[in-house]
Amino acid sequence: MSDEMSLFDAIYNCRAMRRLETREVPEELLIRLIDAANQAPSGSNSQRARWVVVRDPAQKQKLADLNRRFAEPYIKPSLENPESEAQAKMLRTVVWQMDHMHEIPALIVACFDYQEKVEGLGVYRSAGSVWPGIQNLLLTARALGLGAAPTTLALRDQDLVREALELPETFAALCMIPVGYPKGKFGPVTRRPVEEIMRFDRWS
Ligand SMILES: Cc1cc2nc3c(=O)[nH]c(=O)nc-3n(C[C@H](O)[C@H](O)[C@H](O)COP(=O)(O)O)c2cc1C
Repeated sequence: MSDEMSLFDAIYNCRAMRRLETREVPEELLIRLIDAANQAPSGSNSQRARWVVVRDPAQKQKLADLNRRFAEPYIKPSLENPESEAQAKMLRTVVWQMDHMHEIPALIVACFDYQEKVEGLGVYRSAGSVWPGIQNLLLTARALGLGAAPTTLALRDQDLVREALELPETFAALCMIPVGYPKGKFGPVTRRPVEEIMRFDRWS
């Protein structure tokens, strides 16, 4: 897949790709993902999103352990009693990702530097200045033929993430994006029809 894919093709075909090969992703592509993320807007153009690209096996294992700690109890009830075949299928990929997280070539952690100590729900205050960059990263990965998915479960305990990645206490870790070459096929996303989710001028 070349990076000349149209923007609309990328947007409409950017599924969460959780099943990834162990094959290494060239460093220049990882830098390209972050460079694209860095072009996104931020509040007051603060540009305080920070990115940690985790490739070291021991460091990946720490994040994989954190993910398992929070993902297992979160998905267990739905795994036992899925609402639909589609949900069951999605959960199987979440389990696959949980079991293989430490083998995925790169785990990218998107952070925001508050420049002062942050705690509790305060860590989400400026999340809106990081998520546009995360979406840029996901679309760029798609255009480059790389699989990626936004995840948050591993980051539920910010103190543990800070300790694992040696982040300053001013950093909040907002999203972890495992990146690699996809095992599965790319395809279109399935979403509610636009008529259902929009109105002009007022809602009723
Ligand atoms: C804020 C946010 C948090 C998410 N957290 C997780 C997560 O912890 N683990 C995971 O496997 N997927 C996570 N996802 C991915 C969603 O499950 C996925 O985007 C959604 O199911 C749509 O999937 P699709 O694009 O393949 O249709 C998250 C997505 C968002 C936007």
